[in-house]
This record gives sequence, C-alpha cells and structure tokens, in this order.
Amino acid sequence: MKEQLQIAKDTVAKQYGYESFEQFDDKSTFGYDHRTPEIIDKIARFFPNADHFYDLFGGGFSVTHYMLENRRKSFKHFHYNEIRPGLCELIKDAIDGKYNYDVFKPDWISRERFMAEKESNAYIKILWSFGNDGKYYLFGKDIENQKRSMHQAVVFDEFDQYMKDTFKLDKWPNKLSIQGKRLYLKRITNQRIDLERLEQLERLQRLQQLEQLERLELTNLDYKQVKINPNSVIYCDIPYQGTTDYEKKFSHKEFFDWAAEQQNPLFISEYNVSDDRFFLLNEFKHRTTFSSGGNSPVVEKLYGNKIAYDIIQEAIKRKNG
Ligand SMILES: C[S@@+](CC[C@H](N)C(=O)[O-])C[C@H]1O[C@@H](n2cnc3c(N)ncnc32)[C@H](O)[C@@H]1O
Repeated sequence: MKEQLQIAKDTVAKQYGYESFEQFDDKSTFGYDHRTPEIIDKIARFFPNADHFYDLFGGGFSVTHYMLENRRKSFKHFHYNEIRPGLCELIKDAIDGKYNYDVFKPDWISRERFMAEKESNAYIKILWSFGNDGKYYLFGKDIENQKRSMHQAVVFDEFDQYMKDTFKLDKWPNKLSIQGKRLYLKRITNQRIDLERLEQLERLQRLQQLEQLERLELTNLDYKQVKINPNSVIYCDIPYQGTTDYEKKFSHKEFFDWAAEQQNPLFISEYNVSDDRFFLLNEFKHRTTFSSGGNSPVVEKLYGNKIAYDIIQEAIKRKNG
C-alpha cells in the first residue's frame, strides 16, 4: 500500500515535470503545480491582447487566476476549462465564499470518509486527494494520525497527547485565526510538517476577492469541445509528454494536429515539442524550493503556433525600430 502511494505521488509529480515527489513544490491556486506566479508572469508577457483568453488545460486555476488579477484589461472574457470533474464546482464555490473560515470550519477528512464521499463531494475529492488527482487519499498511513492531531489543534483548538508531547502545546499563545495558528505551528516546527490542505484552502479563499467575474466562464470539457471565439488567445498547459496519463489517455499527436488548425494565436507549455508546426518562443529556467534534495533547476519552454510566432516577431521588429 505504502509503495502504491509512493508510486501515485511520483506519478503526479512527473505530470508536472519533476522526477519524484521529493522534487515537488506546491504553489498553484490550489493543487500541486509549478505554475508559480513568477513563471506565469514570464509566460503571460507573450500573450497579445484580444477579446477572449482561453486556459484550456486549467487544472489548479493558477493561470486564469493570475490573468484575472494581472491582465484584466487585456481581455474582455476569460475561459477556464478542465476535463477533470469537480474542479469547476470547487472554483465556483470558492468564488461564492463557501470556504471562507467565517462560515466554513474544515472538518478533518479521514481516509474512510474520503473513500465514502469523494464521488459526491468535489471539495473532498480534490482537496483531500494526493496531488488533487481525486483518486488516492492525501496522506500515507504513517503520517495520517499526526496530521489529524495538528488539524484538530489548528481548526478546533483540541490538543491531544501528540501535540503536547511533540510540540509542547496544550493551548495557543495568543488569540489567533485559523491561518495564524497554522503559521504559528509551521514556524515552531523545523520539519517538513505542514497542513498543506489548509494552506490550499486559504488560497482558494482568495478567489472570493476576484472582481468582474461575469467575464469568467468555467467549463468541464475535453479541450476539443470548447468553442473558440474569433479574436482569442489560447493557452495550453498540456500534460507533459512521457508522463503518465490523467483520468483519460491524452494523445499528444491528436493535440498537435488540433492545435495546428487553430486560427488564433496559440501557446503551449511543454518540455520539448519536436513538431515543426510550432515555434520555440522562450525558455524559462527556474529553481524549485524543495525542502529536500536541494535546488533542482527545471527548464520549461513556451511554444507558439505560426500565428503566435508571427505576432511575436512583429512585436520584436517594432521594438527594435
Ligand atoms: C499541466 S496540468 C495544467 C496545470 C494548470 N496550468 C494549473 O495551473 O494548475 C494539465 C491539466 O490538463 C488536464 N487535461 C488532461 N487532458 C485534458 C483534455 N483532454 N482536455 C482538457 N483538460 C485536460 C489535466 O486534468 C490537468 O489538470
């Protein structure tokens, strides 16, 4: 079982371009992802203004979230799409304020409850699964009890023997919010112990502050089924080649054929595209902030279709006079 969980963890990490779970960071709106705001910022500089922006492989919402916060004026409409069920619902609920700590005190979700409710509850399915893949329970059996103890202390001020013995805590030093307690605990533990899901929940809560949401459309479709309007920019953060599949098998060949047909500037994040219908626009080297294994450099590439490439070349020419 433990081995199976480790394989699942490594599989998710690989989908995001890392060798193993230990090389994996957690920085998206929610979910395990390496689309940090810094990287998205570098990618988004290539997007020309248009009426519509499509994030066709939207996953943890970090790209659309970034665009809504930072490029609001560049587009009239924003379209987030993701094939996995549950994500749209979770995002909608977060925007509606359902996860605000004022109204939502997150219960501890045990392995049993996860298995029983994951198909009927998107929050449980996504937030409490490993790598937000909706399949495996978040924690290995070896750390489940410790995480539960910390969760109960942070959310409900309940201190069990583990909290007393390990952290010498039987109450909080001051009156603290849930987030404050989480951060306090994080500070006093010099270990990799953290309550990742509360941290994710707090990122989800930020969605409530987004403005002009009437310009946002969320769809739960295969990318090919999304209707693309004229005057659009299409961004495709596809599952990386050579990594295992998500719920459904992803055909890169089919995707590249579809992408080559598009009549709008289209951008692809990938490690390597060897199809000469697409052009390398830039490479971004970044270092990950892993708690173990040091700083591993990761090189990401941004490709464009011919239309995107021509727009970029034109802009470079204009800039150079
Ligand atoms: C590399 S991740 C995208 C990460 C995303 N940019 C983020 O910020 O979290 C690729 C995503 O594509 C989704 N996906 C896979 N096949 C798909 C398809 N046929 N249509 C739409 N989305 C798909 C996966 O479920 C996954 O969430």
